[in-house]
Amino acid sequence: MQSIDNEIQLNFIEKCRQLVEERSAEAGRALTYHVETFGCQMNERDSEKLRGILENCGFISEKSEEADIVLYNTCTVRENANRRVYGRLGTLHGYKRKNPSMIIGLCGCMMQEEHVVETISDKYKFVDLVFGTYNIFKFAELLYNAMTSKGQIIDIWNEARPTVEDLPAKRTYAFKSGVNIMYGCNNFCSYCIVPYVRGRERSREADEIVCEVERLVKDGVIEVMLLGQNVNSYGKGLETPCSFPELLRKVCQVPGIKRVRFMTSHPKDLSEELIKVMAEEPKLCAHMHLPLQSGSSRILKIMNRHYDKEKYLKLVADIRAAVPDISITTDIIVGFPGETEEDFEETLDVVRKVRYDSAFTFKYSIRTGTPAASMLDQVPDDVVSERFDRLLKLVQENAAEVCARYEGRVMPVLVESVNRQDSSLVTGRLENNFVVHFPGDASLIGKITDVRLDECKGFYYLGTEVR
Ligand code: 5AD
Ligand code: SF4
Repeated sequence: MQSIDNEIQLNFIEKCRQLVEERSAEAGRALTYHVETFGCQMNERDSEKLRGILENCGFISEKSEEADIVLYNTCTVRENANRRVYGRLGTLHGYKRKNPSMIIGLCGCMMQEEHVVETISDKYKFVDLVFGTYNIFKFAELLYNAMTSKGQIIDIWNEARPTVEDLPAKRTYAFKSGVNIMYGCNNFCSYCIVPYVRGRERSREADEIVCEVERLVKDGVIEVMLLGQNVNSYGKGLETPCSFPELLRKVCQVPGIKRVRFMTSHPKDLSEELIKVMAEEPKLCAHMHLPLQSGSSRILKIMNRHYDKEKYLKLVADIRAAVPDISITTDIIVGFPGETEEDFEETLDVVRKVRYDSAFTFKYSIRTGTPAASMLDQVPDDVVSERFDRLLKLVQENAAEVCARYEGRVMPVLVESVNRQDSSLVTGRLENNFVVHFPGDASLIGKITDVRLDECKGFYYLGTEVR
């Protein structure tokens, strides 16, 4: 089944390539593409796959949105992600007036919502192609249809079917890559739309994942980020049973891989075994993203998170006991329905106790169709804003103090790029994900080198290479 689908798509890539060749010859220039990603690392990884297909079809990457094909890979986790997409479609329409053969495509999570697709087909008729999260693998076919027909093409599936995994991908970085280990989410946190737009949890077989990592290593990758909405529940329903800690050990054993990361861990499923692997496997990066969402046990219950404040704090203590220098980061929502000042104080209390290296803070956003959307006690905007500002201030004060703890140490840095503001510097990351800038040149990109962390500047370090 998979290989037939794969062949069909490769065939469409070939057909698109011929079309692109003909049209470039007519236009007297190369045809260009631009893929814009909204949202999380899953979407970033999906965009790499879209870029891989576009490049194999013969399109050339273009930084600006004045391209022959523009794709928005959308997010719908909060309302402002949706607003940004609608806002930017106006600008794209302007470009299309100048270049009528331009193709505008929308895909990703937002397209899995019925009301969005209705709006696009009613009010944004200049959009040529709409597809969702489950059929991204057939992008070459959809692209071919869009290039050879007029009118809007809408193809949205309501659930996942077995799909193709090994189509081309164009990585943003040559030396690091995301790897999907599972798709979807079964947790139904009461505020969250992800389970509705990404479907039920599906894990990939461990040997398939290991093979992908081996292929990536052959292609120059030294760091992988294993991706899933809740990696700690990896492994359910597999033909060959494998837990997440077991998968981590297998991936760390792939020769040539130097760093392994993962995202995201749900506290309810974080096992002792995972903590043990983190302590034992030197290739596993000392970083744990552990979404808190709220510090109030009462609110956590209504959020359907299946842990309370005490359990969360105990987990953090256990992780820190096993991996002393680990960097812990989090996600926090402010203003969930019914959140009182006392509940919010509990969140502040956890932030003070854990002292996160950084935290993504969000104002609660109503998502139609989720249980929380119909809760009657929504918190007024001004109260949410006031709490949000207090939380952000605390998070920033904490982070600045906590992040300085490595000052003076020599630590390995994976160099990612030449610094954008100052080309005499390069920029890289510590194992715990902190950013470091230090004098160096492009020959260091993709290498791990020891750097003395001279000065902490709040959220990043300035350093010197130690050879
Ligand atoms: N409102 C605000 N933040 C949300 N998140 C998920 N759903 C919502 C929502 N409705 C946040 C959570 C999650 C992160 C990816 O987005 O903190 O961990
Ligand atoms: Fe959303 Fe909760 Fe699933 Fe994360 S675990 S994607 S917050 S439902």
